[in-house]
Amino acid sequence: PLVAVLNGPNLNLLGRREPALYGHETLADVEELCRRTADRHGCDVDLRQTNHEGVLVDWVQELRESAAGFVVNAGAYTHTSIALRDALVTVPGPVVEVHLTNVHAREDFRHRSYLADVVAAVVAGLGPAGYAAAVEYVATRATRSAV
Ligand code: DQA
Repeated sequence: PLVAVLNGPNLNLLGRREPALYGHETLADVEELCRRTADRHGCDVDLRQTNHEGVLVDWVQELRESAAGFVVNAGAYTHTSIALRDALVTVPGPVVEVHLTNVHAREDFRHRSYLADVVAAVVAGLGPAGYAAAVEYVATRATRSAV
């Protein structure tokens, strides 16, 4: 089974971007954690990052059938993108929304997610460990239904 891990805008700057908020681990570190977690569950990962909303939509469409599930940190598009929401609704497998930070403890505009009510789960505030938890959830679901 394949777990798709999609990261949105500015997450390529992880480690250098507001480290007091987002920590010192890079996107490569986070992706390595996802890979190891999936591997432990006998799953493959497809790890992608883009700064472009439409590219996220394209990737969801491309992978919606082949991926067992998705882990998505859409960055700021979480709070703005009806297009990404509409794409994720079409995904048959579980989708987990991840945020490194606790968005609910931040500015008001980060409290609204256009994705939260159409995904299986939301993880916010655990830092990189949130990705591992999300990958584990998707991988466990995938391998369970494969037997
Ligand atoms: C984020 C939270 C968003 O509000 C923000 O725009 C990001 C990162 C997080 O991982 O905490 O880019 O998704």
